[in-house]
Amino acid sequence: MRTFSDRALEIQPTGVRKMFDLAGDDAISFGLGEPDFQPPKVAIDAFHKAMVDGHNKYTTTAGLPALREKIARSWDSYQSGMNQDNVCITMSGTNALLNLFLTLVNPGENVLLPEPYFPLYGPDVTICGGEDRYYPCKFENEFIPKVEDLQALVDENTVAILYNFPSNPTGGTLNHAQRDALLEFAKQNDLWIISDEVYDRIVFEGEHVSFMGTGYDKVVLVNSFSKTFAMTGWRIGYIISANLEAMAQITKMQYYITACSNDAMQYAVLTAMEEAPDYPDIIANEFMERCEIIVERLNNMPGVECHKPKGAIYVFPKVHVEGMNSEEIALELLKDGVLCSPGSAFGPSGEGHLRFAYTISKEDILRGMDKVEATLNRLNGL
Ligand SMILES: Cc1ncc(COP(=O)(O)O)c(C=O)c1O
Repeated sequence: MRTFSDRALEIQPTGVRKMFDLAGDDAISFGLGEPDFQPPKVAIDAFHKAMVDGHNKYTTTAGLPALREKIARSWDSYQSGMNQDNVCITMSGTNALLNLFLTLVNPGENVLLPEPYFPLYGPDVTICGGEDRYYPCKFENEFIPKVEDLQALVDENTVAILYNFPSNPTGGTLNHAQRDALLEFAKQNDLWIISDEVYDRIVFEGEHVSFMGTGYDKVVLVNSFSKTFAMTGWRIGYIISANLEAMAQITKMQYYITACSNDAMQYAVLTAMEEAPDYPDIIANEFMERCEIIVERLNNMPGVECHKPKGAIYVFPKVHVEGMNSEEIALELLKDGVLCSPGSAFGPSGEGHLRFAYTISKEDILRGMDKVEATLNRLNGL
């Protein structure tokens, strides 16, 4: 008997939630990629005021013109000359991603996705009837893909490649030469670049390296206020592209997904950008300090090797315990009161790794690391 659609039956719940659901309330949680800050107070006040002022209605599909214009301006140093027509506000980065796959991928076509990955990408492509194909981002290459690995995956049905830097879960970031090589690969194969840059303002060294402003007209960029302004629960993000033809298709698609984004909240986000422009830098600085602490602790533990990320809010160390896989190690850690994600939740090549989100205070990071060290010592018979 036919029950549900193939697409519903094909997608599976994400493995990241599994550990979370097993954890007790008192576990020290490195599990969730959610900043432990509140949005700037001016934004919360502006949200309330906007509702009181009557901004409780539908907006235009692409969103509040003043906010779109502000966002376009915020990319001026990468790509000048964009305006509100280059921006479509979405209800989160998650919504933006689905919109882009729906806009760019036909059933039967395939999309190249990073692995280890943010677990939404593959199911999104499946929902669109496309095929998800994974390129490796290896520890030994600081999690940056090699062009030869990408090239081996392309065929006549490949229509897009998704890049995600700074990366969830690896924390990998690009330098300009690496970006240019990945750009050249996409150009040569005539692929759309879907660039997920939701961590663009959480970078610890130099400027964020973007695919925006590279002159390639098949770049569409996903962004969100979730991480950079600590607004995960507000569900607000955007798509931006210098390609106006693409933006027209994307905005048309957005109408059929959500009609528009939240009215009052768009005023609040505009206020955040205008009156608390340094907020992302303040939290990025805190994340950088936490990152240093956690990397140092991890690298002093038995069987652990950890790169020092230059962005995002995660470390993705290799953790070796003889005879145990990453889920088993994560479960042992959980028994001892520490929640983290097994690398295998982010794809097969995540096996052998654990992901720690450093979205808790430095004191809690240190307490958590004491526990991780004790568990690893025990598992290694030390
Ligand atoms: C790489 C990446 N992209 C997109 C998102 C989606 O963010 P949101 O839907 O909260 O805007 C996340 C959230 O964890 C992420 O890590």
